[in-house]
Amino acid sequence: MGKPQVKTKKRVADHGEVFTNEREVNAMLDLVKNQCQRIDATFLEPACGDGNFLIEILRRKLELVANHKRNSYSYCKNLVIAVSSLYGVELLEDNAQACRERLYNKVEQTFPKSLKTSNEYLEVMKTIQFILDKNIVCGNALDYTKANGTAIVFYEWKFINETDVKIRCFDFEVVAEQGKQMSLFSDTNKEVSIPEHNQEFKPIHYLKLYTYAE
Ligand SMILES: C[S@@+](CC[C@H](N)C(=O)[O-])C[C@H]1O[C@@H](n2cnc3c(N)ncnc32)[C@H](O)[C@@H]1O
Repeated sequence: MGKPQVKTKKRVADHGEVFTNEREVNAMLDLVKNQCQRIDATFLEPACGDGNFLIEILRRKLELVANHKRNSYSYCKNLVIAVSSLYGVELLEDNAQACRERLYNKVEQTFPKSLKTSNEYLEVMKTIQFILDKNIVCGNALDYTKANGTAIVFYEWKFINETDVKIRCFDFEVVAEQGKQMSLFSDTNKEVSIPEHNQEFKPIHYLKLYTYAE
């Protein structure tokens, strides 16, 4: 038997919380199979629950990342690209936290044993944790705010060379209103005309991303 689709009747009544089962998740993702077969394809789930869609997208992307397992550097870089392209918004904090944990655990469980002794392993896992904390947001996708009333902001993590990532941030409201039928960020390497938030970040080595939190 799969994971229960309902936690309590109250949560269904209050928040419409009915989780999608694995078979439907897979059938729906198969409709966008090509996107799921790109490590860098961007996905945003605006009512992500505990991550039933995001975990399956991640699983598919990790199959591609596994092709790089002979080289620790290449594996870790592609892992960062895969995880950093997944975004979620969820109203309930317990679901948002469960989603982050599921995605993190999936990354850890699939990390090749042969690479766990590499210099990169500990740093990349801290970076993954940092990215998930930013990308899986607890907030209201209808009014674009977090519980404390501040605007939901998304971060784009873009490699500008072999090792360095440039972070840009975008207001969810602006992204959603301007691109209701568009990708969150350019999936096709074309420029998208979404106004940037004015916060500037210096490029940083991908294994050091987590130091922004320190
Ligand atoms: C029908 S469930 C689907 C969850 C998940 N996408 C899945 O398919 O398993 C809807 C989810 O949206 C959340 N939710 C309800 N209103 C929301 C809002 N305004 N903004 C963000 N999330 C919301 C609920 O807490 C619930 O987890």
